[in-house]
Amino acid sequence: MPRPPPDAQRWSLRVDPPWSLEAWRDAAREALLRGVAPAQLDWLEGSEASLLDAPSVQGAPLPADASAPSVPRDFMELAATCLCHREPQRLALLYRLLWRIAHGERSVLSNPADADVLRAMALAQAVRRDTHKMKAFVRFREVPGQTDAFIAWFEPDHHIVERVAPFFARRFAGMRWAILTPGRSVYWDGEALAFGPGARREDAPAEDARESLWQTYYASIFNPARLNTRMMLQEMPARYWRHLPEAQLLPGLVRDAADRVQEMHDRPAQAPQRKIPQRPAVLPSPGSSADSLEALRAQAAGCRQCPLWEPATQVVFGQGPADARVMVIGEQPGDTEDLCGRPFAGPAGQLLDRALAELGIDRATLYLTNAVKHFHHERRGKVRLHKRPESRHVRACQPWLLGEIARVRPQVIVCLGATAASSVFGAGFQLSRDRGRWHTLEDGTRGYATVHPAWVLRQGDDARREEAYRLFRDDLARLRVDDAESAGRGPALPPTPDR
Ligand code: URA
Repeated sequence: MPRPPPDAQRWSLRVDPPWSLEAWRDAAREALLRGVAPAQLDWLEGSEASLLDAPSVQGAPLPADASAPSVPRDFMELAATCLCHREPQRLALLYRLLWRIAHGERSVLSNPADADVLRAMALAQAVRRDTHKMKAFVRFREVPGQTDAFIAWFEPDHHIVERVAPFFARRFAGMRWAILTPGRSVYWDGEALAFGPGARREDAPAEDARESLWQTYYASIFNPARLNTRMMLQEMPARYWRHLPEAQLLPGLVRDAADRVQEMHDRPAQAPQRKIPQRPAVLPSPGSSADSLEALRAQAAGCRQCPLWEPATQVVFGQGPADARVMVIGEQPGDTEDLCGRPFAGPAGQLLDRALAELGIDRATLYLTNAVKHFHHERRGKVRLHKRPESRHVRACQPWLLGEIARVRPQVIVCLGATAASSVFGAGFQLSRDRGRWHTLEDGTRGYATVHPAWVLRQGDDARREEAYRLFRDDLARLRVDDAESAGRGPALPPTPDR
């Protein structure tokens, strides 16, 4: 690349925030349009100007025929990742590559022996690794005195908070959370991400009740016979340990591992225990309301009536007022619900929320639950794909659902989808035929079924999805509080005659 003469005019360019692709791209474009060579540029980060800065590149003459070249997409992707690195030279490095692309070396990125390409790839790799570690090692702690609010403290090596935040928003969509880091913070209120300045470690809660639970769990699943310290340190480098409650246990677990393996070796063989007990400790009798909803919830947490409990994270029990007038019953928790422990927290729940909000129905007045309380899924690599529950799963869970109905005693039940409808109204129920029809249960509770919001989301194109959504919302509209008597006490009662 020809070098400009040593006395060539210098120009400065500012990138703020310094990890932003847009900010870098706009600055780089100004320089490129003016034909300013890489060696003439001082790249500056952030917003603080100094009297010693060279004049801004915008002061450089703009040729009459200036035009911006098109830039290959893989370069922009590489630039977006590299910019998150803390290395100050990355801004100049990327401009050097851009300059070369614009001046006849369009496929420079496909030359892995090129020094600039090698350096940019190494920076991007470090950012990707840091991103992966942040996704794996962020641990939320409950905010004392608040429900469903969590804060995590993390110290990433690079500027990756904006890059990683959407992952946590998808993963923990139904929680309110913040991730604090020394350089930047991100907040999720259940709807939108907001970014703010960095914070201090003391701003995050030190420990919460889940911590000792998590440590107990970790200690119980730690298998000393499979310990491979080299692999463990590669996957979980020691500098991340300060973020991980389980790391406090590791020195002791590692120290004792050899003795424990020897002890396992010496112990006489035992007959294998059944993993799935025949019955859970206590099963509620259908329809009985002998004890409270809370007691039922606690019993359900230990349910082993079908194999779904094992790969699931937890039981997702119903949520809402114990005296709600309306109970909404879905199929089963999805990925988000399985992780956060609350029904209808993921995409289907968000569509339900949208319909309720448009109808003026306050979700907080409803009792939301599912026909099946564990997430039935199949693992494909890192992804957990939803699987429809089988009838044996629905049957195994029925005592819990009936127990909830018997305790809440809703006046109206709305079933979302065929699984919930046949669990409540019987195996003869057909959604295509019976959608929207009032049914009366043995105890006098009345209810109807509509489609599941996940089905609405699965509609092939926008027009079909909007139409399916409109009909779904119309089905829910009959729950609207529209008579003065019911106002303030949840949605209205259904008309008496069956339709
Ligand atoms: N789908 C359901 O049926 N229930 C949930 O809780 C979430 C998705």
